[in-house]
Amino acid sequence: MDVSHFVVMGPSGPVVRVLVPVDERCPHVQVDGRDVSLVARLGSKDFDIKICEAQVSGKRVRVAGDEIVIGPSELNRVVILGDTGCRVKNVPDQPVELQDCSHAWEFPKIAETAGSENPDLVIHVGDYMYRESACPAELGCAGEPFGDTFPSWYQDFLKPAQPLLQKAPWVMVRGNHELCHRAGAGWQELLDPEVYQAVCRIRNAAYRVDIGQLSIGVLDSSLANDLRTTDVFQDIGQDVAKLAGVSWLVTHKPIWLATASKGRPISLSASMSALEALESAHAVLNSLQVAFAGHFHFFSLGEVLRGPYQVIVGNGGALMAQLPEKGTYQFPAYTIKTHEMIRQYGYTLMTKIPDGWLLEAKSTEGEVLFEKKLMRRR
Ligand SMILES: [Fe+2]
Repeated sequence: MDVSHFVVMGPSGPVVRVLVPVDERCPHVQVDGRDVSLVARLGSKDFDIKICEAQVSGKRVRVAGDEIVIGPSELNRVVILGDTGCRVKNVPDQPVELQDCSHAWEFPKIAETAGSENPDLVIHVGDYMYRESACPAELGCAGEPFGDTFPSWYQDFLKPAQPLLQKAPWVMVRGNHELCHRAGAGWQELLDPEVYQAVCRIRNAAYRVDIGQLSIGVLDSSLANDLRTTDVFQDIGQDVAKLAGVSWLVTHKPIWLATASKGRPISLSASMSALEALESAHAVLNSLQVAFAGHFHFFSLGEVLRGPYQVIVGNGGALMAQLPEKGTYQFPAYTIKTHEMIRQYGYTLMTKIPDGWLLEAKSTEGEVLFEKKLMRRR
């Protein structure tokens, strides 16, 4: 019996994964009617679960009664969400942040509603695992799993995500919660679309996903520092240059997000904003239609002058953040104008329309909170 299954789009195409108890054999799946045997993900033994996988190509995968279309001729509906876990953080020298996982965590319902949209593709912009500390008894979730273990990952992501995992292939972006010193083992064992390696990968290399008519660049920004530009930004900059021609960029930390402090505009993502000034990255970023990110726990849509839209979809379930100030901000390398900011849980649905996409920010129940047509840039 499988405890979870999904298809993740990786650098070499779709990867099917089925998780079974350790004493069970890896199952078969059907790809375009052919039987394909899965094999145990080599090296994975930290977690008390067997992860079976196969790299596949074709049109459709049949896995445990679900049919997942991995090669649609057209992409019409894409669900995008991020920052989905239940925040339970109680560590020394840091602010205590506690969310009531039984009553104030909307990701399970969001996944159900978003699943009923019948998407062709799901994109998660990172930060899956938020249960870093034991849940205090007063929140009614005492005894629930925490830390980078399989039971935590199951509770915080795999189980609630199932209504969406069974509908469509996923693009899984790495967030800062999935850094090696946090939930890096779970990332590498369960979701990382790359081949397993014994030592935790510090960064995943950028890659493109070409699906239907859409070309998506996947960029690992989990290590980028929010407050200052560090050396990592050079690595990320080289990575961005590999993504020439993509029309969507998906990465955890936004490139263009600004607010004001004491009347002065400040960037909220220093390392990522600095990419704009790198000549090799600038050309790629400038020809994007839209960049999606999370990291900040709200929804927002901004427009970069002579550049793309920056959409933040960090409202997927983790404890909500305060909204930055809305406005137009001028930096040496770019100007960004905020159109909308929403402090409510939910997900984003992109629907193909002639010459562009309709973006709808939706609530947990699927109600439209905000919509905008994003037309192709000339
Ligand atoms: Fe987050």
